[in-house]
Amino acid sequence: MATATSAEYMNSIATHGHTLPPVLVLGATGQVGQALIPLLIEGGHAVLAVSRQVPVEHRANVIWIQQDLSSEPIRSQTQTLLSVGPLSLALRQVRATPAVRRVIALSSASVLFKHNSKDRNERAMIQTLLDSEQQLERLAEQRGIDLTLLRPTLIYGGDDANISVIRKLVKTRRWLPCAGNGLRQPAHVEDLADLIVCLIPRTGFGQECFELGGGEALGYRDMIQRIAQSEQQSVRLLRLPPWLITPGLRLAHMSGRFQSIRPAMIARQREDLDVDDTLARQQLNWQPRPFEP
Ligand SMILES: NC(=O)c1ccc[n+]([C@@H]2O[C@H](COP(=O)([O-])OP(=O)(O)OC[C@H]3O[C@@H](n4cnc5c(N)ncnc54)[C@H](OP(=O)(O)O)[C@@H]3O)[C@@H](O)[C@H]2O)c1
Repeated sequence: MATATSAEYMNSIATHGHTLPPVLVLGATGQVGQALIPLLIEGGHAVLAVSRQVPVEHRANVIWIQQDLSSEPIRSQTQTLLSVGPLSLALRQVRATPAVRRVIALSSASVLFKHNSKDRNERAMIQTLLDSEQQLERLAEQRGIDLTLLRPTLIYGGDDANISVIRKLVKTRRWLPCAGNGLRQPAHVEDLADLIVCLIPRTGFGQECFELGGGEALGYRDMIQRIAQSEQQSVRLLRLPPWLITPGLRLAHMSGRFQSIRPAMIARQREDLDVDDTLARQQLNWQPRPFEP
């Protein structure tokens, strides 16, 4: 259950003399959360940070609440909620927080790409994400909440599970199988965190949803080569069809290796997973950096 009461929290804000309203951050220990919290503090916000595991070190102006939000939302009076963890948990928290007036939440551009995935788990995950988006939009409309849903492409730059996997592979292998050169448009965690902070005062627009790509779209093979270069490694990419790579991957799974790489991901190496984020560039001043792993 919560490690701080609302009263303690409000008292702490008064003590630290903050002028900006406090914000509630869900998914605070995730890669975007870790980039977001320092920016919020720099910007003069006090932060109520939620996750199941909390950091040991103390940070001024941040109160950590250790809570499994899938069991129970926290009790909070904050008006601003930033969700950088699972969207379904943000939905539950907004339902349970009548004071909320402003919500900025990360969804994912995967809803555009993976709804027809051959992987049953992926399809279920995307359906949950789409349902959460729709329910959050309905709830926001009913309660007059200003909601900004952000759908980024692949996120990197923090403790990510995507680029980091490739980084480990290029460090240990001379060659890698590769099924295709579909476009990727990785978005940096710090650009996302920066955007979220800038969007807090954006109210009066009702419910909005924006796709967000990184500053550069590059082929999958080029992305791997760029990661290898950043590690001063040289790797040969062996072009193979997915049907030839997948059996090898299944064998690796049986011996407990490469569990995070699913067969559907191999097939997707040939697909373009970039987005048109013109709307975000025009309306939100989204100016992401090129891919710099
Ligand atoms: N990863 C990507 O490439 C990518 C791409 C596009 C969009 N996104 C979106 O970006 C957001 C962040 O994604 P992510 O992959 O970095 O992280 P994630 O796995 O979606 O979320 C991680 C954060 O949520 C917290 N969390 C998870 N379950 C919780 C629970 N039951 N109760 C309380 N806190 C919980 C985690 O902390 P604890 O584990 O300590 O609880 C952690 O702080 C998500 O909305 C995702 O859909 C991600």
